[in-house]
Amino acid sequence: MSRLWKWAAWAAAGVGGLAAVVVLGGFAASEVLLRAPPGHVQGRSLAGVAGDADRGRAVARRYGCFDCHAANLQGRLFDDIPGVVVAYAPNLTLVAAGHSDADLERAIRHGVGADGRPLWIMPSAAFSHLTDQETADLIALIRAAPAGGEVQPRFKLRPMARVGALLGLFKSEPAVIAAHANPELPDFGPATSEGRDLARACVECHGQSLGGVAGGPLVTPDLTIAAAYDPEDFRRLMRTGVAAGGREVGLMTAVARNRFSDMSDADVAALQAYLKARADHKIAGR
Ligand code: HEC
Ligand code: HEC
Repeated sequence: MSRLWKWAAWAAAGVGGLAAVVVLGGFAASEVLLRAPPGHVQGRSLAGVAGDADRGRAVARRYGCFDCHAANLQGRLFDDIPGVVVAYAPNLTLVAAGHSDADLERAIRHGVGADGRPLWIMPSAAFSHLTDQETADLIALIRAAPAGGEVQPRFKLRPMARVGALLGLFKSEPAVIAAHANPELPDFGPATSEGRDLARACVECHGQSLGGVAGGPLVTPDLTIAAAYDPEDFRRLMRTGVAAGGREVGLMTAVARNRFSDMSDADVAALQAYLKARADHKIAGR
C-alpha cells in the first residue's frame, strides 16, 4: 500500500478531468507554489543536547524514516502513483555533508528543506513534536551514516497532484504546521509522558488526536480501542502485528513488524498506559 496518504486520496477521487487546468497554464502556477519559500522558519542547532546514533536508529525506525530514505539513508524511489506523484526521497548522507544541524532540524520538525523550499512529501507535520533529544538523536544517526551513493532526483508531481495543490486541497508541510493543524497530543501528567512520546509515532495514521481517520484511502480506528486490549494481546500486536483474536490487520500488521517490533516490554506498557489515560479522559468527557 502507498505510503503517501495525502496524495493517494487524490488519485482515488479520480478527478482526472480537472487535470486539464494544469495543461492550460497551471503548470507554471503550481511550480511557483511548490517552490515558494514558506516564510521565515529558523532551524535550531540543539547545541547542548548530545545526540546518540543508536537511540536515533530506534526513533527513525519508529517514525518510518527508513521506509522512504532507505536503510542506509541514501534515499530511493519509494512510491509512484500514476497521474499523481513520482516520489524520491533524498540521499540524507549527502544532504548532511553540506548542511548544518539547524538545517536538518528545520527539515525534520518544521518541513523546510535545506535549500529553503517547503517540503511537500515528507510528513514533517507528524514529526514536529519530536522532543529535542529525539531530534538530536536522529541528526546523530544521519551524521553517523557514511556519505555515499547518488544524489536522488527531486520528486515529481504529476497533473492531478498539481491541481490538488493549486486548489489548496494539499498543503505543504510548513503550511499545515503554520495553520496549527497538528496540535501536540494532550498531556496527562508525568506518569504517562514516556507513553505520550511513543504515541506520537501513531499520529501519522491514527490522526492528530489519535481519534482515527476515515474518508480517504487510509481508514484507522480511534486508539481508545488500545485501552480495551488485554496487555498481553497489545504486546503481541505491537511486536508481531497480530491483533487480538489472532487477526492479521493489513497495514497495521505490516507497520508493527516494520516499525514497532523492537519496542521493549516497558515501552509497550508505557504506550498502553498513555492510551488508557486518553480513553479515560474521553469517557469522562474532559
Ligand atoms: C513518506 C516518506 C518519508 C518519510 C517517512 C520521511 N521522509 Fe524525509 N523526506 C522525504 C522526501 C520526499 C523529502 C524531500 C522532498 C519533500 O518532501 O518535499 C524528504 C526530506 C528530508 C530532509 C531534508 C533534505 C533536504 O534536502 O533538505 C531531511 C533532513 C529528512 N527528510 C529526514 C527525515 C527523517 C529524520 C525522517 C524520520 C523522522 C524522515 N525524513 C521521514 C520523504 C520522507
Ligand atoms: C502507517 C500507518 C499506521 C501507523 C503509523 C499506526 N497504525 Fe495502527 N492501524 C493502522 C491501520 C490501517 C489500522 C486498521 C487495520 C484494519 O483494521 O485493517 C490500524 C489499527 C490499529 C489497532 C486496532 C487493531 C484491531 O484490533 O483491529 C490498534 C490497537 C493500533 N492500530 C494501534 C497503533 C498504535 C499504538 C500505533 C503507534 C505506536 C499505531 N497503531 C500506528 C495504521 C497505522
